Amino acid sequence: MMPEPPRPVRVPDLKAMKQRGQKIVMLTAYDASMARLLDRAGVDVLLVGDSLGMVIMGCETTLPVTMEAMLHHVQAVSRGARRALVVADMPFLSYQVSAEEALRNAGRLLQQGGAAAVKLEGGRPVLDVVRRLTDAGIPVMGHLGLVPQSVHKLGGFRPRARSEREAAQLLEEARELETAGAFAVVLESIPAHVARAVTECLSIPTIGIGAGPHCDGQVLVSYDIFGLYEGSLPPFVKQYARLGELMVEAARAFAEDVRQGRFPPAEERA
Ligand code: KIV
Repeated sequence: MMPEPPRPVRVPDLKAMKQRGQKIVMLTAYDASMARLLDRAGVDVLLVGDSLGMVIMGCETTLPVTMEAMLHHVQAVSRGARRALVVADMPFLSYQVSAEEALRNAGRLLQQGGAAAVKLEGGRPVLDVVRRLTDAGIPVMGHLGLVPQSVHKLGGFRPRARSEREAAQLLEEARELETAGAFAVVLESIPAHVARAVTECLSIPTIGIGAGPHCDGQVLVSYDIFGLYEGSLPPFVKQYARLGELMVEAARAFAEDVRQGRFPPAEERA
């Protein structure tokens, strides 16, 4: 008999996990094969992050990622995921121009991409958009702290909310995102005590990246933890494998076999 397919993770499950004290596990995925593997590993949420601009497209920032590029990857990840919740990042300028445009673009990520939710960056300036999307039935994950789409305004990928004033503002914006309807919020590169205060004051889950151990869940960029990204890594990343090195070795072995005439084996050359 075939085993029962796993019960898919749904948006409300994340809040229930917070209430039970069960940590949420989120990793980025950009294609169907990676999505299948991470899903098999029991990852709860697959984020099709706009980090794809850096790790897949080879850009310096996430800014060049377009709606078309994002849709292409969201479709692939949605095909590969069986249990995990698929969340699509809204690319730069896909939600900042107007709430109407944001609604159309978010709708495409669900309707054409197969995602279950979208993520967008920022606090007060995006509250109208968050309300508009959630009113239309589109679940929204917020993202505060280091918001990479504002890298030029921030002057680099530096930690945020170090001062009391900035920390207080972040806490206020997290509250406002929850009130506007966000179902979860990513906290990136902020001090652990600030992330803890936000986590304790929200009823929706917080998912940290470089934000200490007190968040309700953790997210990292999959290419970083697998050792597949050759650029510089943020200090909070833990590398769980060195797959890049394995791939180089495997490619070298293949090249050597081809050059020495060992592949394909003689009987298959015909
Ligand atoms: O784009 C991304 O991968 C992200 C995560 C790092 C949270 O936003």
